[in-house]
Amino acid sequence: MKNLIITAAVISSAFCTLGADGVAAQTAEEIETGNRLAAVLRAGRSVVSNSQELINDPNVTDKGLSGDVFYEKVIQAYLNANGEQPLHDGLDPLERKLTETQLNAMVTVIDANQELINAEGVAFKGFIPAVFARLVNEQFAGEIGTSAMVKVTAPSELVRNRMARPDTWENSVIEEKFKDSSWAEGQPFFEETEVSGKPAFRMLIPEYYSQSCLSCHGSPAGETDVTGFPKEGGQLGDLAGAISITLFK
Ligand code: HEC
Repeated sequence: MKNLIITAAVISSAFCTLGADGVAAQTAEEIETGNRLAAVLRAGRSVVSNSQELINDPNVTDKGLSGDVFYEKVIQAYLNANGEQPLHDGLDPLERKLTETQLNAMVTVIDANQELINAEGVAFKGFIPAVFARLVNEQFAGEIGTSAMVKVTAPSELVRNRMARPDTWENSVIEEKFKDSSWAEGQPFFEETEVSGKPAFRMLIPEYYSQSCLSCHGSPAGETDVTGFPKEGGQLGDLAGAISITLFK
């Protein structure tokens, strides 16, 4: 709850029968939970990214990157990025459960991919942050059930994996908010809305291409990248995608 700036937009985008203070408090908590889910996912992706050279090494057949080792690295990466432990004592039971489930999903995914990660004689194995994140989000969905959802999506013209296609809500936020030149870079959008008729808090957090993305998503557009996909012609700082969080009531 600390470090949260509650803007007028936060309060006005929320509606329910609580008083204004209750709405603000509830929404602030949901935003914090959404940010936390995104931050844990980002920490995991950063560990894959920082281990990419090792993962891609065709000669090291025991890379020592077990689920347990990965877990410790994610904790450290989260701590470095956010200045606190992901599982600190102040978490409420729901936040603790979400974070533990996310971290455990990462361990499961890394353990399940040991053969690939350690494959002899194979340099590029396709085990990259985006694939890792998708597998973790799928694993998380299987374990957490219907209380929360984490997904990485993208502007529809950029989507590589069909699973990542934006739904109607995500698409309209991307097209109408994130692509608007007046939208502040990095600013999330959130709303109390419905998913399949069920009330839900939804949050979309934009992500942009950094230099390291452009070997695959950059220029020349159409040229095949190392993963076999045609490059999108993206440029440094362009909108690349978004982390989509849904918290069901
Ligand atoms: C080694 C090549 C490579 C690099 C580098 C790379 N990506 Fe990707 N990216 C992919 C592939 C392949 C997929 C599809 C993954 C899958 O199967 O789910 C993907 C998927 C995505 C998606 C999900 C939507 C979709 O198209 O399926 C986003 C968003 C994304 N990348 C953004 C980035 C960003 C931002 C960076 C830099 C921080 C980056 N990528 C770096 C290859 C790459």
